[in-house]
Amino acid sequence: MKPLHVCITGAAGQIGQIVAFKVANGEIFGKSQLINLALLDIEPAFPLLEALQMELEECLFSSLKSITITTDLKVAFEKCQYAILIGAKPRGKNMQRKDLIEANSKIFEEQGRAINEYADRRIKVLVVGNPANTNCLICLKNAPRIRNSNFCAMTRLDLNRAKYQIALKANRNVSTLRNVIIWGNHSSTQFPDVSQAYFINEDDEIDNENDEEIRVEEVIKDKTWIQKDFIELIQQRGTTVINARGLSSAASAAQAICDHMRDWIQGTPSNSITSFGVISDGSYGIPRDIVYSFPVVCFNSEWQIIKNLKIEEFTKKKMEESAKELIEEKETAFRFLNY
Ligand SMILES: NC(=O)c1ccc[n+]([C@@H]2O[C@H](COP(=O)([O-])OP(=O)(O)OC[C@H]3O[C@@H](n4cnc5c(N)ncnc54)[C@H](O)[C@@H]3O)[C@@H](O)[C@H]2O)c1
Repeated sequence: MKPLHVCITGAAGQIGQIVAFKVANGEIFGKSQLINLALLDIEPAFPLLEALQMELEECLFSSLKSITITTDLKVAFEKCQYAILIGAKPRGKNMQRKDLIEANSKIFEEQGRAINEYADRRIKVLVVGNPANTNCLICLKNAPRIRNSNFCAMTRLDLNRAKYQIALKANRNVSTLRNVIIWGNHSSTQFPDVSQAYFINEDDEIDNENDEEIRVEEVIKDKTWIQKDFIELIQQRGTTVINARGLSSAASAAQAICDHMRDWIQGTPSNSITSFGVISDGSYGIPRDIVYSFPVVCFNSEWQIIKNLKIEEFTKKKMEESAKELIEEKETAFRFLNY
């Protein structure tokens, strides 16, 4: 089996460091798949990359064929087949969202160009660094040689958070919960939606064919909680974690990266949908040419938006609010980049 070329950017950061161990240990590609791992960060973080390399080597992971640490985009993305783009400037004190968009849009412009020039043209790219949806849009715009559908922004952490809270409220096992959706932006306008979600019987977990389903809205009858408290809880979860630990989520974000990539590459489990931030094709009336989180299924290493779900007026309004924010983010970034 040929080794895969995998690149992690921002690898010296708190999420990047955890993901590097997970990738090296086969959590995305399987333990029998050899990996050539490229770890990119900026010059001041190079000593941390050196330390990371030493630790990775001394874990003796059987699937880790080689490690390259670098600050050079060409070295990082040469022949790259999978890229996890985490490296971004953090939001500083007194920094407006606009300042963050501007600071990061340049990074993702450069990385998009480098991916276009040096990577394998079938590369799959997951953008995690914030603002993830808009960074993903900038990246794919700068990589015309690569199909737009090979770029995703991560909303899986939001999805995992939403699933946990629903299962907790319902007092049911989270593994029996299906079809929660995250619509829109990975921001406080995202819309966690349970209108399509249901639980299966715990006994049916193995046999997916004849699952007995019960809708979440029949189990959790408190509509105010679903339409207000739950939504706010998920929208604000990132901030709540920052307030608790003084830093943003790291291990759960790293896990979400692996979950996203595994579903993309190996396919979503049968009767299950997930949510990816992808280029809008106009589905559900969402404007084209923004990266928006939709419900998707994956097979043959491709995602496909689930179409024709029945959308209630309440849901539609929430979906539009997030689209509006994404259009504004795109305009801010494109103005700054002179597009
Ligand atoms: N999409 C999501 O669900 C999600 C979840 C959590 C965090 N995030 C975002 O992920 C990003 C990383 O989070 P973190 O906690 O690991 O931050 P961190 O500050 O610990 O690490 C960021 C790393 O990126 C590096 N970096 C900065 N500019 C770079 C560049 N031009 N090229 C390569 N590397 C560069 C930094 O040196 C640092 O090592 C942030 O933008 C954060 O907001 C997204």
